[in-house]
Amino acid sequence: MQIATTIANVPGRDRGKRRVLVPTMGALHNAHGELIRVAREKAGKDGEVVASIFVNPLQFEPGSDYERYPRPEKEDEEFCRKAAVDLLFRPKAAEMYADNRSVFVDENSLSNLLEGKSRPGHFRGVSTVVAKLFNILEPDVAVFGEKDFQQLAIIRRMVRDLNYKIDIVAVPTVRENDGLASSSRNAYLTPDERKQAAVLRKALLAAKKSGKKSAKEILALVRKTISEATLARIDHVELVNAETLQPIESVKPNALLALAVYFGKTRLIDNILLG
Ligand code: PAJ
Repeated sequence: MQIATTIANVPGRDRGKRRVLVPTMGALHNAHGELIRVAREKAGKDGEVVASIFVNPLQFEPGSDYERYPRPEKEDEEFCRKAAVDLLFRPKAAEMYADNRSVFVDENSLSNLLEGKSRPGHFRGVSTVVAKLFNILEPDVAVFGEKDFQQLAIIRRMVRDLNYKIDIVAVPTVRENDGLASSSRNAYLTPDERKQAAVLRKALLAAKKSGKKSAKEILALVRKTISEATLARIDHVELVNAETLQPIESVKPNALLALAVYFGKTRLIDNILLG
C-alpha cells in the first residue's frame, strides 16, 4: 500500500486502470470496510482502490466535535493495509486549506434541509472537500454510504451540476448486531446510551411495519418509540421525498424517513426508505 501525506506525493493517474475512491474521515470501522470491499469489486482486478482519511475542519460547525473527533492513525493505516487498499491519501489541513481560501462549493437546495437546518455550513464543507478530493485523486468511481443519505444526494447533485465524470456508487447502511448504524461517533456513547441507541432502528422499523401512510401518524409513532429511551433527545424526524428531500404529507414510492437524535452530546442519524 502506498501512502501519500501531501498532494505532490499522489501518484499520477494511469488512465488504463480504473481508480475507485472511498473518502473517509478515519476512525475506520466495519462500514468503511464494506465501502472498501465494494470499491475493490468495482475496481476489478486491474483497478486501484484509493482511500482518503481527512478530518475535514470545514464541515464541523464551531463548537462541535472537530477537536475530539477520533484520529487513530496507526490502526487506520493497518485497517487499510488489511483491506488491500492500494493508495491511502492522508493530507494535512494546512495543505488542504490556505488561510485566505475564498472558493467553496455550495449546493444550494438540498443542503438547507434536514441535517442542514441543524448544521449550517456543514454540507458546504462536505461538498468543498469532496470536490477537492475528486480533483486531486481523479477517480473514475467514488463510493459513499446510504447512512448519510443527504450527503450522498448532495454529492450526486454536485457531480451532475459540475460535470464530474465520476460514477457515484451507494452502499446500504451497515449496522451493529442490535441494528444501530455503525458510526465513528458511537464510540462517544456511554454504555447506557449505547444500549438505548438501538431504539433508533427499532423506531424506523416500527414505522415501516405499521403500514401507516400519513406523515403525521408515522412521525408520532417514531417519536413515541424513541421516547421510551430515557437518554434520547430528538433533534428531528421527517418524512421527505428521497430525491428532493422536501417534506411530504404521506408515504409515496421514494419516501424517506430520516432522523437525528442526541444521546448526551452525541448526535446520531439514521434513515429508512418507505413506500
Ligand atoms: P465518514 O463519516 O468517515 O464516512 C465515510 C463514508 O462511510 C461515507 O460515505 C459514509 O456515508 C460511509 N458510512 C459511514 N457509516 C456508515 C454505515 N453505517 N453504513 C454505510 N456507510 C457508512 O462521511 C464522511 O466521512 C465525510 O463527510 C466525507 C464524505 C469523508 C467528507 O469529509
